[in-house]
Amino acid sequence: MNELLQTIENTVRPLIGSGKVADYIPALANVNPKQFGIVVYSNEGELFQAGQAKVDFSIQSISKVFSLTLAIKHYGEDMWQRVGREPSGHPFNSLVQLEYESGVPRNPFINAGALVVSDMNQSRFASPHYAMREYIRRLAGNPKLKSDKVVADSEFEFRSRNASMAYLMKAFGNFENDVEAVLHSYFDNCAMRMNCVDLAKAFSFLANKGYCHHSGEQVISAREAKQVNGLLATSGLYDEAGNFAYRVGLPGKSGVGGGIIAIVPNRFSVCVWSPELNKSGNSLAGIAALEALSDHIGWSIF
Ligand code: DON
Repeated sequence: MNELLQTIENTVRPLIGSGKVADYIPALANVNPKQFGIVVYSNEGELFQAGQAKVDFSIQSISKVFSLTLAIKHYGEDMWQRVGREPSGHPFNSLVQLEYESGVPRNPFINAGALVVSDMNQSRFASPHYAMREYIRRLAGNPKLKSDKVVADSEFEFRSRNASMAYLMKAFGNFENDVEAVLHSYFDNCAMRMNCVDLAKAFSFLANKGYCHHSGEQVISAREAKQVNGLLATSGLYDEAGNFAYRVGLPGKSGVGGGIIAIVPNRFSVCVWSPELNKSGNSLAGIAALEALSDHIGWSIF
């Protein structure tokens, strides 16, 4: 597997240069674009890697999966009163559907949906970001993980679009807490710094029927893990979810930091990272690498 990952790195590296690093905040725009890492973590606990597998990056929207599974644990089926389970077909930060769908976001992975989920976690925990940080540290088996304050502060400074979504949802009665407080928790979660090893390990429970073997914890039930994988397959890559299903065929979640996690149910979790993004805000070389991986192993969920 290490050799396969090395071959994949060699194959996709030439794509670096044809995408664009996220530049909506200066803290992300300064990342060296010429980086690539990939890690596979098997359900037997074996770790395979190539490239810059241990370089930390901003997990951004990948954090939405942690927020969702934390909320599922506490709210169960009730949470689906406040957020949908359908792909949006729109960019991750789009506002248009929110107005005509009465403040109920299409799914938990677009920004509006993740903000509602963050609002649920805000109601539940006294210190929502610290609860989330402890949860992520446990799942990754890395007690040192933390949020990048410069990134979080910069996101808060440029919060207008996310703030508009949250206030619109509040106007529709679908937001319980103080908007600015929830935005702080949401940005602190997005600004968590992790590497491919941390992320592949942290999401192993989704490949393993909800069970995280290195922490010995049933994170969510097997049924809930199946459901989360279903949502990742249909909405994890926003308006590119169809293309991702076509090319890769696995549940996945991207972030504008250039990371993507993908799940091969009952076999392994994988994290790939390369900072340059395509037009939908997903890692360009990352998608190509996952496509090569699923082609090579001859396996996808389809
Ligand atoms: O709220 C935002 O827009 C960012 N903090 C996260 C967006 C993101 O990662 C979208 N993913 N591709």
